[in-house]
Amino acid sequence: MKNIRVSVLFVCLGNICRSPTAHAVFRQLVDDENLNEFITVDSAGTGDWHIGCPPDKRSSEAASQRGYDLSDLRARLVTREDFYLFNHILVMDKKNFTDVTALAPNDLKAKISLFLDYSLMAKESGLLEVPDPYYGGDDGFDRVLSMIEDGSRGFLSSLKNEHEFLRD
Ligand code: 4NP
Repeated sequence: MKNIRVSVLFVCLGNICRSPTAHAVFRQLVDDENLNEFITVDSAGTGDWHIGCPPDKRSSEAASQRGYDLSDLRARLVTREDFYLFNHILVMDKKNFTDVTALAPNDLKAKISLFLDYSLMAKESGLLEVPDPYYGGDDGFDRVLSMIEDGSRGFLSSLKNEHEFLRD
C-alpha cells in the first residue's frame, strides 16, 4: 500500500534564486508524475536578508520561460525543526553544506547532500556546485535553471530507486 511520504528541502544562501528555482522545478516534476501525494517539497535559505520576499525577478522570468511558476514562493530561513521534518536536505554549494551542517542537531533525521550529486550532467563535467547567479549576468539564471532541471530529474530517479512506493 502507498502510505509513505518523502519530504525534500532545497537550500541556498538567499532563498530567492537557486533553491526556489529547484523548489518549483522539482514540484513540477513531481506533479507531472502524479506523485504529489507522496512527495513534499519546500525551500529555505541560510541567510536572512530576503525573508518574506518573493524570488528574484531574474530567476522567476528564466523559470517562467520554461513553464515553471515561482509566484507563490517566499523566502524563509532554515530552522532547527527542518532537520526533523525533512528526509532530504539538498544544498546548492559547499558553503551551504558547511552552514547547514553547522546548524544540524545531532539527532537529525534529514540526509544532507549537494544537489549536483544527483545530476548526470554535473557528473560528466565534474561540476560540484550550482553557482550563485545573484551577482552575475542574466545568462547565469538560464544556466542555473538547466543544471537544476537535470539535478531534479536525477534526484527523482534516485528517490524512485530508494522507495518502491514511488514506482508504479
Ligand atoms: P541564492 O542567491 O542563494 O541562490 O538565493 C543569492 C541571493 C541573494 C544574495 C546572495 C545569493 N544576497 O547576498 O543578498
